[in-house]
Amino acid sequence: MTEVTELGYIALGVSSLAKWQEFAAEILGLEVVDEGEPRRRYLRMDFWHHRFILDEDGSDDLLALGLRVSDAEAFEAMAAKLRDANLAVRICSRLESDDRHVLQLMRLDDPNGNPIEIFHGPHVQYSKPFYPGRRMYGKFLTGSGGLGHCILRNYDLDKTYKFYRLLGMTGGIEYRIPTPDGKPIEAMFFHCNDRDHTVAFGLGGRKRLNHVMIEAESFDDFAYTYELVRGRKIPIGIMPGKHSNDHQYTFYFLNPSGWLIEYGWGSRPATRQSEYYSEDFYGHEFQPDVLTPSWDALQADQ
Ligand SMILES: [Fe+2]
Repeated sequence: MTEVTELGYIALGVSSLAKWQEFAAEILGLEVVDEGEPRRRYLRMDFWHHRFILDEDGSDDLLALGLRVSDAEAFEAMAAKLRDANLAVRICSRLESDDRHVLQLMRLDDPNGNPIEIFHGPHVQYSKPFYPGRRMYGKFLTGSGGLGHCILRNYDLDKTYKFYRLLGMTGGIEYRIPTPDGKPIEAMFFHCNDRDHTVAFGLGGRKRLNHVMIEAESFDDFAYTYELVRGRKIPIGIMPGKHSNDHQYTFYFLNPSGWLIEYGWGSRPATRQSEYYSEDFYGHEFQPDVLTPSWDALQADQ
C-alpha cells in the first residue's frame, strides 16, 4: 500500500542542547542518548534508536518530520506517486539515511514549507530497553500509533489537504471554533493509523511547529508530569482538559525552544467518519500571557 503508516521521528533544531537535555530527561521522562556526535543528542521513548533528533543549530524549530512507510516496495511506490504529482522529491544517499538510522530515506517539503522525510526500516533496538530520564509509573504509548502527533504551520488548507491525502492520510476539518470577529478558527487533522491524528494544521504561528504531543500509558504519569511542570514553574500555555476529537486528557507547556509540548493520557482510536466540534469536553483554558508571545498571536501568519 502506498501510504504513510506512522509518525516515526521528529528532527528538531535547538539553540541549547544543555537546556533541552535537562528538559527532556527531567520533565518529559525521555531517555537522552549521546552517540558522540558533536552538537547532537537523540531522545528515546521506546525500543527505537530514537524518536527525536536534537541538532544544536540555533533554529529552535522543526528540521524534519519523519513519516514511515512499510517497506522497500512501498517506498518505491511512494516516490513514484510523488514524482507523478510533480513534487520535488529527492531520494537520499546511504550517508543521509544512515544519519537518520533508517534503511532508505527521501526528502521533500509540504505546501507550507515544512520539511518532510519519508523512510522505511527504522533501527529498532530490542537489546536496549527504554530507560526513562526520570521516575515514571508506566511507559509512553507509541507502537502502531507512532510517537504521537504534531500541529504544523500552514498557509493554505486546501493545498495542505491535497498533499497529505496524497501521502495516504485521511481526515479533514475537525474543529470550527467561533471567534468574536465572526471568522471561525478551522483546524484540520489527519490520521494514518489508529491514533486519532498524526499531523494537524490551522492554529497559525511564526514557527513551523505549534506543538508536539506525547502520550503516557498511565494517568499517574500525566498527573505526575503536571506536578513537575508546576513545581519547576515552567509556563503552562493551555491548562489540563479533555479534547473532543481524540478524547485525550492533556495540558500544554513551553519547551526551551519556545513552542509547546502537549502531554497526554487516555486517547480514543481514530474515528472513521468525519465530525466537527466547536469546543472541547471541558478545561483547556488558554493562558494568553504564555501563548501570545510564543505563538506571535494565533493565526498571525494565515
Ligand atoms: Fe495536540
